[in-house]
Amino acid sequence: MKNPIIVALDVPSRVEALSLVDKLGDAAGFYKVGMELYAAEGPAFVKEMVARGANVFLDMKFYDIPETVKRATAIVAGLGVKLLTVHGSASVMRGAVDGRGASGLKLLAVTVLTSFDEKDMADLGYAAAIPDVVALRVSKAREVGIDGIVCSPLELKRVREIAGPASLLVTPGVRSAGAATGDQKRVATPAQAIADGSDLLVIGRQITRAADPRGEALRILDEIANR
Ligand code: C5P
Repeated sequence: MKNPIIVALDVPSRVEALSLVDKLGDAAGFYKVGMELYAAEGPAFVKEMVARGANVFLDMKFYDIPETVKRATAIVAGLGVKLLTVHGSASVMRGAVDGRGASGLKLLAVTVLTSFDEKDMADLGYAAAIPDVVALRVSKAREVGIDGIVCSPLELKRVREIAGPASLLVTPGVRSAGAATGDQKRVATPAQAIADGSDLLVIGRQITRAADPRGEALRILDEIANR
């Protein structure tokens, strides 16, 4: 089995990020660099991680005019990043598909942010129900040639039906039984998420705030293997 754990490096500096990476070693399959760490350390840190041989997932959730998304995506592809997120609007996704060209960069669409509720949708002027918007965006992502979807573990079965068997389904909101959930409201265990068809699990605090991050990641791998 390939290691399905993506460790979210939600820290504000290179030093803190590398301390975690050094502790984890091969216990993580991927590392997710999000807005906070990217804002602090930029592409230099991403290049350093790639040079170390790490699989980097850049969680930038691009959302801009197609030409800008295309050009920025081409730059990300050139950094050697493996996974990049963009918002699931058709024109944005098309821009990203154009930008990655023949590179090995895989694109993931974010459908509706899991922090959104019906009030946030109304605030944007959207009258549709969230599950319907998720379904629409997943089917557009498939049409446009996006490689995968970021979704809640609770949406996996429905998203898989629409996205098809080849789509890479990446799920945050994953916690072992008994681990603190923090601000995540809708969680599943790692074993349940994999059983429901998740390909990759984004896990932050359960690992990064553990006294022994490597031990914690290995325990999660065990849970999955013995499910
Ligand atoms: O610490 P925790 O495991 O909750 O971290 C989850 C990571 O996944 C964070 O980096 C968070 O930004 C990200 N994420 C999420 N829910 C989404 C998309 C991304 O929690 N819908």
